[in-house]
Amino acid sequence: MQVLQYVHSYMAYVVLAILIFAVANAILGLAGNKEFRFEKDFRISLYALILSHMQLLLGLILFFVSDNGLKAIQTLGMGGLNAPARLLAVEHPAINIAAIVLITIGWSRHKKQLEGKKKFRTIAIFYGLGLLFILSRIPWAPWLG
Ligand code: HEM
Repeated sequence: MQVLQYVHSYMAYVVLAILIFAVANAILGLAGNKEFRFEKDFRISLYALILSHMQLLLGLILFFVSDNGLKAIQTLGMGGLNAPARLLAVEHPAINIAAIVLITIGWSRHKKQLEGKKKFRTIAIFYGLGLLFILSRIPWAPWLG
């Protein structure tokens, strides 16, 4: 499933870019005491949510079909994986699922809030934490190497 790996790999740029943009926008909105606008702030957060969910879906499929996902764990056993293999098969998938749960919680919480300030703060915290989780377990070497 080489094609899936390519798509997941290239979409990672888009997902990281929009997440960074959404977090920066929320921090600037909060710091500048700005109004939370539907056409801009809501949409940026929504696109970041949708793209990270698409990446999650691709990642889940990859986990089951790639040689570097579940198959690696089944073949070598949890203890048999070296650090780079464990990153791809275990740490990256687990931490990214947690990251996307955080982003989704942030999205639904911000929708229930009425004040712009609170909405910006919720997005900044939950999307920001999700982004940090993702960045902490990117397989940098196979990605950029
Ligand atoms: C927003 C979240 C995510 C980002 C930014 C991301 C990014 C990446 C990147 C950059 C790679 C390396 C690709 C390469 O070697 O060229 C990768 C590989 C991989 N990702 Fe993700 N990923 C995300 C979420 C997930 C999730 C949720 C899962 C599984 C549940 C997952 C499963 C995998 C697997 C199994 C690989 C190894 C693929 C292979 O080598 O065949 N990813 N991911």
